Amino acid sequence: MYHRDAGDNDDQICNPSQNQPFAEVLRCYLSRREVLIGTLALGVSSFLPPLAGARPGPDRAQEGADRGRLIGFEPVSVADGSGPWPAISQDYRFEVLIPWGEPLEPQGPAFRYPPNAADQAVQVGIGHDGMWFFPFADGGSEHGLLAVNHEFGRNRHVLGKSRPDSLADVRVSQHAHGVSIVEIKKIQGRWRPVTSEYARRIHVNTPMTFSGPAAGHPLLQTKSGNAALGTVNNCSSGPTPWGTYLTCEENVNGYFGVTDGETSWAPTPEQARYGFSEDGFGYGWHRFDRRFDLSDRDFINEENRFGWVVEIDPFDPTQTPVKRTALGRFKHEGATTVIGKDGRVVVYMGDDQRFDYIYKFVSAGPCQRLLEQGRSPLDEGSLYVARFHDDGTGEWLELSVGNPVLARRFRDQAEVLTYARVAADLLGATPMDRPEWTSVAPDGTVYCTLTNNGLRIAANAANPLAPNLDGHIIRWRDTEEFTGSRFTWDIFLIARDSHGTEHTFSDPDGIWADPDGRLFIETDGDQPGDLNNQLLVADTGTGALARLFTGVTGCEVTGLAVTPDRRTLFCNIQHPGNGDPTRTNFPARFDGETVPRDATIVITRKDGGIVGS
Ligand code: FEO
Ligand code: CA
Ligand code: CA
Ligand code: CA
Repeated sequence: MYHRDAGDNDDQICNPSQNQPFAEVLRCYLSRREVLIGTLALGVSSFLPPLAGARPGPDRAQEGADRGRLIGFEPVSVADGSGPWPAISQDYRFEVLIPWGEPLEPQGPAFRYPPNAADQAVQVGIGHDGMWFFPFADGGSEHGLLAVNHEFGRNRHVLGKSRPDSLADVRVSQHAHGVSIVEIKKIQGRWRPVTSEYARRIHVNTPMTFSGPAAGHPLLQTKSGNAALGTVNNCSSGPTPWGTYLTCEENVNGYFGVTDGETSWAPTPEQARYGFSEDGFGYGWHRFDRRFDLSDRDFINEENRFGWVVEIDPFDPTQTPVKRTALGRFKHEGATTVIGKDGRVVVYMGDDQRFDYIYKFVSAGPCQRLLEQGRSPLDEGSLYVARFHDDGTGEWLELSVGNPVLARRFRDQAEVLTYARVAADLLGATPMDRPEWTSVAPDGTVYCTLTNNGLRIAANAANPLAPNLDGHIIRWRDTEEFTGSRFTWDIFLIARDSHGTEHTFSDPDGIWADPDGRLFIETDGDQPGDLNNQLLVADTGTGALARLFTGVTGCEVTGLAVTPDRRTLFCNIQHPGNGDPTRTNFPARFDGETVPRDATIVITRKDGGIVGS
């Protein structure tokens, strides 16, 4: 996978040359940030005091009284959190919903392995990731639509072989990617898919449209004139206040390759910056589907059609999904939407690669007014990238072709957006340790996971470990209630591989801040010891942390959605056993060669209480 040289654009503040012990680095950058200095207990995870100037939100009014009561469940012990089957707190229960290959509707084709392309197009995809629950107006918290991303499935897992042998094989793989819309209902205490006019698969061959500044631009046209089709590597996601679903295209470079690479192909600088290469991640689609062949002259620019945020209306099965180009093109991880004080829409987004950036979009006008005019709040506005200063402040740098620095490099705004990474490089954004999910707490604090960066050799204040093997969570507060160009920030938590303690975890990825002050944290990476990837709950006031759920061997735990009453939480087990049936048969519970299947997990408290409590 492509990555920039470690330390390329790093501000070399504390540690310009060599790795330092953790405590030394932390002391070094803290000494520069008087405003944030406080008690700091080095250990499992380290919590700084509340952000300077933090304004208690309405949900914090009871904070003193509620502290200690936010997390009341018995955690899963490290000893119980390994092996081929999930574990959950004794105060909770879980059930399995919509595994890969399950029919979208009960009467659809049953799972068979390996699937065929026609079946897979009407079955749940693989690689469950970001998702959201959309209740029906009269359905409350027991009936709604679940929109689920299908990030990836390796050929070995999906096809049972490492390479496709035909276009038919490629279609199976393509249909396993994308998004599922499934209508689910709680019937006799159990959630299940039901027959639905909304059930729908969106995959790599589904018609798409583009909107915003780059729509219709030559960079999004191919010589062949082929129509825009498909979304791929749908990782994180986010709901909008107007009831739609934003799905984020992440590692899209992995699906392209080159058929005559040995002779003439070399990546353009822009292709290199986005990680395109001769064989991608080994999917082999380009051998049978010309769209994914970077060396096919008729399909030049096809790759520019991927790497966007895509808006889907789950309640309109006839809607053509829209790629919102105003939000920029990069390896999108998360699109967290919030309404600012002045009514404008703000979207926070990570670009998940080592040394890549955190972005935000601010709409040009108030959300409500634009919607009433039939215009999308996501089509007109400004895209910014974050620069973190060492003193605990930061600024949002606008990616505008009106900036002379960018005008020298780009012809128009469409080009800036299509090559947003290149534009952000030129403006001096802060290279981060793999920005993953963002979540906005009710008090206005924005949290962002930085999952890890083993290649960092120079620490800075916002990325204080070199190498950063276990990741951290940064948080900030924007001026003008989200829409401003400045912010203050601190580090909420440093994940550490600390053997012998019960709080140990590594590689934070999915997060969600609930209305009470909890932060749900999911992990994706090697956990200490034999521990499986996990779902933890943190109290953002006290820093208390407890393990609610652990997945199965080889999986990651990702995706977070709740019902409106917060009595049901959905998360996902992705790539159980890394697809290897000798490691786990999850969700089947017997020995044999049954292929493991990615699935959604439904989590409820046994006493019917709020999830996380
Ligand atoms: Fe798809 Fe960055 O995780
Ligand atoms: Ca992720
Ligand atoms: Ca990840
Ligand atoms: Ca993943």
